[in-house]
Amino acid sequence: MVNILKMLDEVMERSYSPYSNCKVACVLVFSDRLVCGTNVENASYGSTICAERSAIVGAISNGADMSTLSAIYIKSNKEQFFTPCGACLQVISEFASADVDVVVLNKNNEHRDFKFADLMPNKFDKDKLN
Ligand code: THU
Repeated sequence: MVNILKMLDEVMERSYSPYSNCKVACVLVFSDRLVCGTNVENASYGSTICAERSAIVGAISNGADMSTLSAIYIKSNKEQFFTPCGACLQVISEFASADVDVVVLNKNNEHRDFKFADLMPNKFDKDKLN
């Protein structure tokens, strides 16, 4: 946990967020590694990439075994708790089982703990396509 908190703070400092000034960091916990991501904003606001999707894309790109994802940590530089947005939940849902831990921290390291299924109880996934 201490390592993860340190990593969240380091990653948050790399956030590119000149428009909102909301710095967000995400750390994904796999059986053999931690993968981080941060939010990357754009002058065309809708092209912004959230920290969570940034982390998922980084994990895949770097060869993480997505089936071993066990926890997701998300921290912002605000008092508020930045639970994942709808777009991020959909992307995470491709890889997260219902019991994946989602820990959301505010700038003071106060945290709210969820299971993925608490945040997205009725996900649309590949099972619905058969
Ligand atoms: N943001 C994230 O990175 N993750 C979330 O869960 C919610 C919002 C970012 C997107 C944008 O750069 C800023 O926070 C304000 O919405």
